[in-house]
Amino acid sequence: MAHTERKLFTSVQLGALTLKHRVVMAPLTRSRSEQPGDISGDLMLEYYTQRASDGGLIVSEATPISITARGWFGAPGLYSDAQVAGWKRIVDAVHAKGGSILSQLWHTGRSSHVEMTGGPAPVSASVNPEYWDDASHLVSAPSGWVKSSPHRALEISEIAGIVEDYRKAAERAKAAGFDGVELHGGNGYLPDQFLEDGSNHRTDAYGGSIANRSRFLLEVVEAMVSVWGGDRVAVRIAPNGSWNGMSDSNPHALFAYLVEQLNRFGLAYLHIIEPRVKGNVVIAEGQASIAAESLRKIFKGKIVAAGGFEPDTAEAVIEKGDADAVAFGRHFVSNPDLPKRIEKNLPLTDYDRDTFYTFDAHGYTDYQVYEDRR
Ligand SMILES: Cc1cc2nc3c(=O)[nH]c(=O)nc-3n(C[C@H](O)[C@H](O)[C@H](O)COP(=O)(O)O)c2cc1C
Repeated sequence: MAHTERKLFTSVQLGALTLKHRVVMAPLTRSRSEQPGDISGDLMLEYYTQRASDGGLIVSEATPISITARGWFGAPGLYSDAQVAGWKRIVDAVHAKGGSILSQLWHTGRSSHVEMTGGPAPVSASVNPEYWDDASHLVSAPSGWVKSSPHRALEISEIAGIVEDYRKAAERAKAAGFDGVELHGGNGYLPDQFLEDGSNHRTDAYGGSIANRSRFLLEVVEAMVSVWGGDRVAVRIAPNGSWNGMSDSNPHALFAYLVEQLNRFGLAYLHIIEPRVKGNVVIAEGQASIAAESLRKIFKGKIVAAGGFEPDTAEAVIEKGDADAVAFGRHFVSNPDLPKRIEKNLPLTDYDRDTFYTFDAHGYTDYQVYEDRR
């Protein structure tokens, strides 16, 4: 197939964002912020500059909206002036290369530790002791990988304050010059903890029915939209995820309702994490798939698909019409020039999982562009 025919390298409009190609950099927590203060420094500047491309879109690594929202040591925040200044340098560098960048807003909820929250117990929709008892849910903290701390359920009176933290972070993202914001609504973090009935047993207006469990996420989106307008806000969901202790008794109905509700905001895009794909076998993690293919029928805006894509399957999902763009995670870790490599059919460099969450340049900024490989 001639390169010019490939849909991945045609332009697309995602809300207010005009892209020249559809190879999106997925949000990737890399824990390289400067301490103390979780500030985006020179190392992060170099990393994002390497990965920016003309007309390309980067979604930033997940960014805590407050001190108590933290749950991953080294994740860069967006709640202090110094953090805004750090991000601004990165945003400016991405813009200088002709790219766009959104800030992914993050509250980790129960997936945290008192070392990360500054002392208070992590919060969630409900209390689920089996979560902190499970050694498979480790938290990266200053003292290393630790079991999550016992969490508590948010009082209903506290919820508006958390929504307000999201709104303030959305404002700070604007001050830093980002092109918009993406809500991290997947992978078992706070909005997901409210959504799914495996983690939400509340009996108030934020629990029980699907509408009630969706309320928190929708209020957060409304707050983000109040700052940016809908066409610069995106939402990321993980409808099939059992990762991080998540489960729901009826994910089809839940995510169909949620996505239908999201239609009213006129979002830039809906970002959907697909079930893992190996070859052409979908590993549905015990649940039937309800990813891009089925949500396409419900969502009225653009869809970015993510999760296990290779250049050929990315092209195919766009060709088939199930997604408008594809976000790559792990391949972007080890291929700073990923859009170009895919466009020119160049081989991809393998990633080293052992350096995903370490703290220095090795495995971070020392992956080379194709021409410089040795
Ligand atoms: C090192 C690493 C860090 C990640 N951090 C985030 C994150 O901060 N926010 C998020 O929404 N997803 C995060 N993810 C998930 C990726 O965005 C993506 O959905 C996942 O890696 C699957 O895509 P891939 O098969 O192209 O890697 C992370 C994944 C990896 C490997």
